[in-house]
Amino acid sequence: MKKFKHRIVIVTLIFLIVSYGCQIRKSDNTEAMDSTASAMDGLALNPPMGWNSWNPFGKNVSERVIRETADAMVNSGLKDAGFEYIVIDDYWQGTRDSATGILSCNPERFPSGIKALADYVHSRGLKFGIYSDAGTLTCGDQPASYGYEDIDAKMFAEWGVDYLKYDYCHCPDYGSENNDYRMAIDRYKSMGDALKATGRPIVYSICEWGPRSPWLWGKEVGGHLWRISYDVGDKWDEPRNEHSQIGILTAIDAMTNLERFSGPSAWNDPDMLVIGLRNSGYIKGGGCNDIEYRTQMSMWCMFSAPLMIGCDISSMSEETKAILLNKDIIAIDQDPLGKQAFRVWRKDGIEAWQKPLTGSRFAIALFNRNSFDKSMKVSLKELELDPVAEFNVYDVWKHFAVKQPSGNLTADLKPHECQVFVLDKKTL
Ligand code: GLA
Repeated sequence: MKKFKHRIVIVTLIFLIVSYGCQIRKSDNTEAMDSTASAMDGLALNPPMGWNSWNPFGKNVSERVIRETADAMVNSGLKDAGFEYIVIDDYWQGTRDSATGILSCNPERFPSGIKALADYVHSRGLKFGIYSDAGTLTCGDQPASYGYEDIDAKMFAEWGVDYLKYDYCHCPDYGSENNDYRMAIDRYKSMGDALKATGRPIVYSICEWGPRSPWLWGKEVGGHLWRISYDVGDKWDEPRNEHSQIGILTAIDAMTNLERFSGPSAWNDPDMLVIGLRNSGYIKGGGCNDIEYRTQMSMWCMFSAPLMIGCDISSMSEETKAILLNKDIIAIDQDPLGKQAFRVWRKDGIEAWQKPLTGSRFAIALFNRNSFDKSMKVSLKELELDPVAEFNVYDVWKHFAVKQPSGNLTADLKPHECQVFVLDKKTL
């Protein structure tokens, strides 16, 4: 009997230890799953593609502009090419009611209200985005969301907003050494939490411009993409990433070495596209030529960058359409692997970039920073590819397969030109 009791005690003890262990493992797993779930909510699995009002219209954005843009997005074929978000940037706001805290829209430029506009955009099979700011005022001195995060997020959700760009002007601690990072993280988290609490899937675009390294904390505060640079103007080169406006080349350099922070639902954002502006938009800058605009498209796609068009798409030239509607380069941007390109080789102002793609393929960009023509030849080894492999080579801008000397990739590049190839290993 004593022996039997002894056995029962031992069995019970074993049971308790095992079930306690399981509980610990279970709670560990649940926590791990919870944190994965918050970082990966299934939104922005590919870099978001759309249009934003700031570059072309700035202060003059209106409901008419947004409706015409939604129509043009569908009629031009941009929607079929994957562009889906129509985002109103700054200057949609009216006043904030001091009693209720509710923010209205500008009654002259948005007489039908934002909800009606969102409904129209949705009726065209597109998604709707809006803009606010983590400070007391936006960059255009309009009422912003600081202290009103919950009210604003709820209102955005009620309006049917699918995407929020959240800026960082007028934050009182701006520039201070102590509290600067912590304040940015707190403020972006407040809006991130408020958006999540609405229950509506809203892509959260952090627009802090890079000084507080949002690639380190953007994901944790609920962000799906974060600007890594100041505003890109309609210009090729302005070599300082310290204030607006920078050039396309400066933004390319600012993306360098950030590849490990990018991936599905978490994208480094080198700002919107200036393609097609030709110095005619709101932001100006002097304008770029079509080679330079094509290079912006090429490198943004190599980077898996969000593709937010920034020109007036209701009046695009044929050249602009050919750049924005190139499905081969868009496929590189949207490749499900979601890898940002990294520079593998550079010499005398010419560079080679590699982006791994699904199906063991690679996109390679050959890029000439110089203001003169340059021929370039790089070996597979220099491209960090299997040096003895044979590849089929597809030229993404010419839209056909090209023959290349065995073991090398070559290109004759015009000033600021970037050529992009997809390399697919031959099966022998
Ligand atoms: C900042 C942002 C821009 C734009 C303007 C609006 O400069 O970086 O992209 O949103 O504000 O005022």
